[in-house]
Amino acid sequence: MTDPVNDSRHPGVRIPAALAKALASARRVVALTGAGVSAESGVPTFRDALAGLWARYDPLELATPSAFARHPKLVWDWYASRRDALRAAAPNPGHRALVEIERRVPSFLLATQNVDGLHAKAGSRSLVELHGNLERVRCSRDGEVVDRWNAPAADEPPRCPRCGAFLRPDVVWFEEALPAEALERADDAARRCDLMIVAGTSAEVYPAAGLPRTAKAHGALVVEVNPDATPLTPLCDHAIAARSGLALPALVAAAWPAHAAGPSGAAPSAREGGGAK
Ligand SMILES: NC(=O)c1ccc[n+]([C@@H]2O[C@H](COP(=O)([O-])OP(=O)(O)OC[C@H]3O[C@@H](n4cnc5c(N)ncnc54)[C@H](O)[C@@H]3O)[C@@H](O)[C@H]2O)c1
Ligand SMILES: [Zn+2]
Repeated sequence: MTDPVNDSRHPGVRIPAALAKALASARRVVALTGAGVSAESGVPTFRDALAGLWARYDPLELATPSAFARHPKLVWDWYASRRDALRAAAPNPGHRALVEIERRVPSFLLATQNVDGLHAKAGSRSLVELHGNLERVRCSRDGEVVDRWNAPAADEPPRCPRCGAFLRPDVVWFEEALPAEALERADDAARRCDLMIVAGTSAEVYPAAGLPRTAKAHGALVVEVNPDATPLTPLCDHAIAARSGLALPALVAAAWPAHAAGPSGAAPSAREGGGAK
């Protein structure tokens, strides 16, 4: 376990050789990500998003069906402001490292709690968005996704062109069920994986936070990437206390040193537990 791979291209991030080896030889890998993975793309985490104009609100006043029923315009505006902020955001090296992992392991699934669409933009294909996608809008009555709508009255969200109900973001709010098919796919992969990477999530929002526990209970190695400790940290086999934009590329470089080094092949070997020289 102690025998970290120190890679000069990822200063400060120590990847245990045993972890590098486990990832390189894993057949089934699942990654669970949260808002922290997008922090380095300038997308605020939930806590940070409630700043400025929105600082006086509690998430429960903005991200629940009852909040929308009471203050539909306020909730619509909050999501519209987050959608606008997202237009400037691009995937970061952490998102891209997960694409690299997907390319290299035989079976891979990325389950994200993020609603920003950045994993798909980075090129992740095997992806379930457990909490929906901020860029989509749907009818609050029949759930149909809507692409166009007329300008709303000043004090209301826009309305569904078919039935006239208010439109809402196609995200999962607190107190709402996750899309059953997405959760089932993630849960099934968690049961069967040999390694799970949990990155940038406070691991407090269920049922997503239950996925690493499921993986662990079924024998998987669980690795956490988060600068801070979470309720999950004690359960993990490895906890890498670093930003995902550094730690995930370091993990890829440690697991597949020849690939990560590019044509010159000059990366240190992590495979045989010798660590970097
Ligand atoms: N980007 C998004 O799509 C986005 C943004 C805000 C909130 N949300 C929603 O809010 C809910 C909150 O749960 P959550 O666990 O995803 O987020 P969270 O805000 O509860 O936790 C974020 C976690 O990321 C960690 N973190 C911060 N910077 C990091 C970095 N650079 N690298 C790695 N980790 C870092 C923090 O220590 C924290 O543990 C979710 O349901 C999610 O759908 C999504
Ligand atoms: Zn409708």
